[in-house]
Amino acid sequence: MLPPKKILIVDDNPLFVNFLVRVLEGKGYEISVAYDGQTGIQKVRQNVPDLILLDLKLPDLSGEEVLEKIRATHKQIPIIVVTGHGGEQVAVEMMKKGATDYLSKPIDFEILLKSIQDAIEIKEGQLQDMTLGEWGSLEFFFPLLAHEVRNPLHAISGALTIIKRRSNLNDHMLTQSIRIIEEEVQHLNHFVQECLNFVRPPNPVLLTEIDINEVVSIVVNMMTHIFDPQARGITVIEEKGPQLPKIYANYEELKQAFLNLGQNAIEAMPNGGTFTITTSFKIESAPKIEILFKDTGMGIRPENMKKLFRPFFTTKQRGTGLGLAICRRIIEERHGGRISVTTEENQGTTFKVELPVHPKPEGI
Ligand SMILES: Nc1ncnc2c1ncn2[C@@H]1O[C@H](COP(=O)(O)OP(=O)(O)OP(=O)(O)O)[C@@H](O)[C@H]1O
Ligand SMILES: [Mg+2]
Repeated sequence: MLPPKKILIVDDNPLFVNFLVRVLEGKGYEISVAYDGQTGIQKVRQNVPDLILLDLKLPDLSGEEVLEKIRATHKQIPIIVVTGHGGEQVAVEMMKKGATDYLSKPIDFEILLKSIQDAIEIKEGQLQDMTLGEWGSLEFFFPLLAHEVRNPLHAISGALTIIKRRSNLNDHMLTQSIRIIEEEVQHLNHFVQECLNFVRPPNPVLLTEIDINEVVSIVVNMMTHIFDPQARGITVIEEKGPQLPKIYANYEELKQAFLNLGQNAIEAMPNGGTFTITTSFKIESAPKIEILFKDTGMGIRPENMKKLFRPFFTTKQRGTGLGLAICRRIIEERHGGRISVTTEENQGTTFKVELPVHPKPEGI
């Protein structure tokens, strides 16, 4: 078993601290407490915690000073700032100074626990630098998970078909409930499929000669059917570069990666906008095809930029957070290409995919 994660609480309110200690110990965390800033800083030096919960109002130092002092020596420890009511503005300043997250009192414990889990997970991700080796366990786990989840899902779908057949579908509540079950089943199916896509081993047999402009047309066509951009006030533009050389690639995988990027773009423009896919042939250090996926959507907050491609990172209520992780796998690991992103908040985001143009590989 892994050792328990250590949380240091720096807060001068004994009632609040006691309450936190009870809840967090109940969740398996090992807790230490400092009732003022100096003690907090000392405790970090003596026994480095996995996470710090820092109150902004302390009897000796300001939370800001404590944050700065700890950050000076410990860059990695996640620090969640807890502010009094209405302290959001200060909290934003604290985020700029290196706080991982902030929560306002009164604390919602569900949110606190989620924030703690996320922060620790992200820190561990950074430490391991998300190298390939880490996916070894997921490669084993996801198919198992898929198997265990899919069987009951099939059973539920089958049973639901029977219920629908035998029910009075004029009953509004009933039809609505059935729809909810169907949507949730679909969501879970999608999640499981994404997990499998993520760990699917490369299949060199499926490398074929591909015209990227053709893939783009097909993806745009699919997007029209799946997302109905027009109804959402979204214009989709294809800017296809002339004379793109064909490349050897896995058609299904590229289609999936492009579709994921397209879906993200659509989801980033809830109030409409423009989505442009541009392809071009470039010769820099080596010949490559560049594909830009540009939206005029909400953009990405700077603090999220580093997390984008990590599995399960999502800011969406119903997102699985695997879309970009899959894209990176497909583009970089499977095709030796590169995926990168530029963004401006409330202006839009551009994902750039670069694919190398190689001569025909052996055996094709
Ligand atoms: N074009 C974009 N504009 C703004 N934010 C984006 C864009 N693309 C990705 N993101 C951000 O990156 C996060 C991760 O994207 P990713 O595709 O991996 O997961 P997701 O879209 O949340 O869920 P899903 O697994 O269903 O795709 C998103 O939740 C969103 O915050
Ligand atoms: Mg996505």
